[in-house]
Amino acid sequence: MTSHRRILLILGGGIAAYKTLELIRRLRESGCSICAVLTDAASQFVTPLSVASLTNEKIYQGLFDLTNETKIGHIQLSRDADLIVVAPATADLMAKMAAGLATDLATTLLLATDKPVLIAPAMNVRMWEHPATQRNLKQLKKDGVKIIGPNEGDMACGEFGLGRMAEPAEILKSIIVQFEKQNDRVTKLKSLDTKEHTKPLDGCRALVTAGPTWEPIDPVRYLTNRSSGKQGFAIARELVEAGANVVLVAGPVALNDPRGLKTVRVETAEQMLAACEHILPVDIAICAAAVSDWCASSQAINKLKKSSISSRQLELKENPDILKSISMKSKDRPKLVVGFAAETEDLIKNATEKRKAKGCDWMVANDVAPGTDAMGGNTNQVHLITSDGVEAWPQLPKTEVAHSLVTRIGHHLRARAASSPGKKQGGKRDR
Ligand code: CTP
Repeated sequence: MTSHRRILLILGGGIAAYKTLELIRRLRESGCSICAVLTDAASQFVTPLSVASLTNEKIYQGLFDLTNETKIGHIQLSRDADLIVVAPATADLMAKMAAGLATDLATTLLLATDKPVLIAPAMNVRMWEHPATQRNLKQLKKDGVKIIGPNEGDMACGEFGLGRMAEPAEILKSIIVQFEKQNDRVTKLKSLDTKEHTKPLDGCRALVTAGPTWEPIDPVRYLTNRSSGKQGFAIARELVEAGANVVLVAGPVALNDPRGLKTVRVETAEQMLAACEHILPVDIAICAAAVSDWCASSQAINKLKKSSISSRQLELKENPDILKSISMKSKDRPKLVVGFAAETEDLIKNATEKRKAKGCDWMVANDVAPGTDAMGGNTNQVHLITSDGVEAWPQLPKTEVAHSLVTRIGHHLRARAASSPGKKQGGKRDR
């Protein structure tokens, strides 16, 4: 129920914030991704570094952090979330929420959102029982905010009573209940009107490979290349946006699993091929991975000594060609197979020949010459090579390349379906 869900977690300034670290760990274990926002007071109780390490994502603190603002925008933080959780919710935060104040990033996000909000209050018993807090609580409930806790018990301040933040397990349970409710609503909405929500690749299964591969030489060394995986990840995300059911097979890259799809992590070309074979059949296969062409003929069990290798050459053998093996399938071949040709010279000639040699339908010719941003950077300059010819695209952010490519795929499959109505998925190639 929690897998692939995104939570915007706001930490208020209270001693209970240490329990929120445990909550983060549990949420991550259950498959959630978490964007954490700390109030100034919260960072006095837990370090931003410990929160960032546990969420494995950048954390946000200041409303006027311009880098954050230009890159993501504070409104976007709550747009991306399925649920907003405030833990610990201090008396001060609750008061600001009830009054609709927006004095820092946390309260601004809470005021600017239409997403469900769950709070876990934590404060001294007298603060909790104070009529002002009880008034705020009533208002928050009226506004649709869900409340978990507080519990009764010994407090950090030496008193006893209501005010201890609910335990991480209880908060997790409450989060699961929220997601169950959301799911029910989505199912109901879908059954009311499915037509209006049809996306271009609804019902399509897609496979994307991304990133480099690591080919071990010995336990500490490996062969690889400079691929970052950004282009393949962006394509996988766009396919999800277009409604496809996507599996991403990723080599070792420093990117988080995208939401809304399954990511399979591999290291070697052999493992990448095996993962792809396991996922097939699909309707669309996009091989954006920079697969190492070779691996060591044999992998040393122990670290090779300089003295032993200096006098001999490293023996290599060729890796399997994943794109070719998918393109050449005689049974259940994807309707559309797309490759990425990485070239530093004779771009169009080499990529056109590669398209023929590998048997894929489309080849995206990728200029990776030194000085371009393609390997590891955020932009790409590509040409799309199909049976109709060569199309030059301008230099674009990788996300835009992904968007244009997926839009093209949508148009192509629709045209194909229109020209052969009733034809079964898979089967003949699409050249
Ligand atoms: N590819 C693959 N398996 C391999 C090598 C490449 O699936 N063992 C795929 C890549 O994912 C890409 C396409 O083939 O979609 C072209 O990869 P590229 O590195 O440009 O070409 P190579 O086949 O490696 O040829 P060369 O290194 O000679 O340019």
